[in-house]
Amino acid sequence: MISQLTPAHAALLHALEAKANSGASPQQLVDALGDPNTQVVGHWQQNVLTGYAIVMRLPFDAELQAIGVLPACQGQGIGQQLLGEVIACAQQWQSERLLLEVRASNQRAIRLYLQQGFHEDGRRRGYYPAALGTAGREDALLMSLSC
Ligand SMILES: CC(C)(COP(=O)(O)OP(=O)(O)OC[C@H]1O[C@@H](n2cnc3c(N)ncnc32)[C@H](O)[C@@H]1OP(=O)(O)O)[C@@H](O)C(=O)NCCC(=O)NCCS
Repeated sequence: MISQLTPAHAALLHALEAKANSGASPQQLVDALGDPNTQVVGHWQQNVLTGYAIVMRLPFDAELQAIGVLPACQGQGIGQQLLGEVIACAQQWQSERLLLEVRASNQRAIRLYLQQGFHEDGRRRGYYPAALGTAGREDALLMSLSC
């Protein structure tokens, strides 16, 4: 089941992100839950919060700010369902495009976005610190979907 999350779900959301590691900071999660221009959607399995996504409304576009699924629940279609909900939300807002950025090494997430119709618009060279345990920096891929 997918439902909208509210500030009352903050503790559950922090615990989920600590395991999913989508890159959202604790402050980003708190801000998103309290922002009327942002929707936080959660996926539930038997009362356990198994995944979430954050989408923000911008003046013309919308932006996927985070998406994460519990490692034990990945590969079951939860990411696809959450992204479908995010796309529906952007369409409801009449956003022109849904934007996102993703680490160039995050092949699983990139596959999910391509499957849902996103395409690559460009790259920010060396945008992210390299993954833990590796040196240097990593590119961000900029992707978008026309709503
Ligand atoms: C990226 C992420 C959100 C995807 O979530 P997910 O729930 O695993 O995604 P899905 O299950 O919808 O799809 C993933 C794979 O499972 C497959 N799948 C979907 N439903 C399935 C099912 N019922 N049975 C078997 N496989 C299935 C999909 O085809 C897809 O396969 P692929 O990776 O070979 O293309 C998740 O891996 C995650 O939380 N990663 C860590 C955080 C992160 O990187 N976030 C993105 C930051 S930009």
